[in-house]
Amino acid sequence: MIARRDLAVRVAARTDLSPTCFRVILETVDEVAAVPGQFGMLTCGVGFDPLLRRALSIAGVVRREGVTCVEMMVKEIGRGTTLLRHASVGSRLRLLAPLGNGFTLTAVEGTRLGLIVGGIGLPPVLFAAEQLAARKVGFDLYVGAASGAELLEVERCGKAAAAVGGELVLTTDDGSAGEHGFVTDALQRRLDGGCAYGRLLACGPNPMLAALTRLARDRALAAELSLEEPMACGVGVCLGCVVELEDGRYVASCKEGPVFSVDRLAERWWP
Ligand SMILES: Cc1cc2nc3c(=O)[nH]c(=O)nc-3n(C[C@H](O)[C@H](O)[C@H](O)COP(=O)(O)OP(=O)(O)OC[C@H]3O[C@@H](n4cnc5c(N)ncnc54)[C@H](O)[C@@H]3O)c2cc1C
Ligand code: FES
Repeated sequence: MIARRDLAVRVAARTDLSPTCFRVILETVDEVAAVPGQFGMLTCGVGFDPLLRRALSIAGVVRREGVTCVEMMVKEIGRGTTLLRHASVGSRLRLLAPLGNGFTLTAVEGTRLGLIVGGIGLPPVLFAAEQLAARKVGFDLYVGAASGAELLEVERCGKAAAAVGGELVLTTDDGSAGEHGFVTDALQRRLDGGCAYGRLLACGPNPMLAALTRLARDRALAAELSLEEPMACGVGVCLGCVVELEDGRYVASCKEGPVFSVDRLAERWWP
């Protein structure tokens, strides 16, 4: 396994995915051995403004002819992500990666996995879905967004699920596409209907993760969540990203996470 490195990267491509989200492909000559769930800390501007790098999940890594392409999907919410949205192709940035841990991608005998996404939680889960599809591990993929226009990469999600005979379930909060309501409600309906999953893997906004934690704990389902606590350093130094665990400890989610099993998390995750 190649350890984390501070990589010199070049913006090779940038495309819009929705009114608020875009994809960035970063090229480097170095190898990047990332697994789904891991992330990188990326500079967003030139020089030291803004000073802090932004944490972004890795959506995929491809190495061809001595060049590695790292894919990221980004939601524009503030200064750093706006600068990134307007970065020209050819811009030189720095990426500290890969960081953190990853999802457990092993099959669970006799069942499929359930993959659940809320909004811009898609990158690590889609990376997992494509790796599971390549390994022929069965899963269903649930993708929720605020509206149809904010559902990302629908065709690619469908292709990954179909490769293992899985279902792609789309939901929107406003009912403009897929099933009307929250993605966790769609999951609950299928669980109530007798659907069984050996493990759930999820990433999304905290209210979605709290609902999922409650669901998983009530039904004694194994589940892993990729948390997106605000991060300043990404390497366990600033303690800005601490997460409370059930045993009372506080741990840096950039080092012990960002993926946590729901049975390790303190109660504030499912109030
Ligand atoms: C491990 C990890 C993986 C992530 N992966 C992705 C990803 O793949 N794609 C993506 O778009 N984003 C991802 N994020 C979130 C991303 O890091 C933030 O959206 C980004 O840092 C915001 O930077 P900004 O300069 O645009 O916004 P800022 O100007 O720094 O902040 C704007 C507003 O957003 C709030 N905010 C800042 N950071 C976060 C956060 N982490 N969660 C919720 N609200 C926040 C601030 O409080 C503020 O109100 C990830 C975060 C973590 C910790
Ligand atoms: S982001 Fe600094 S300790 Fe985790």
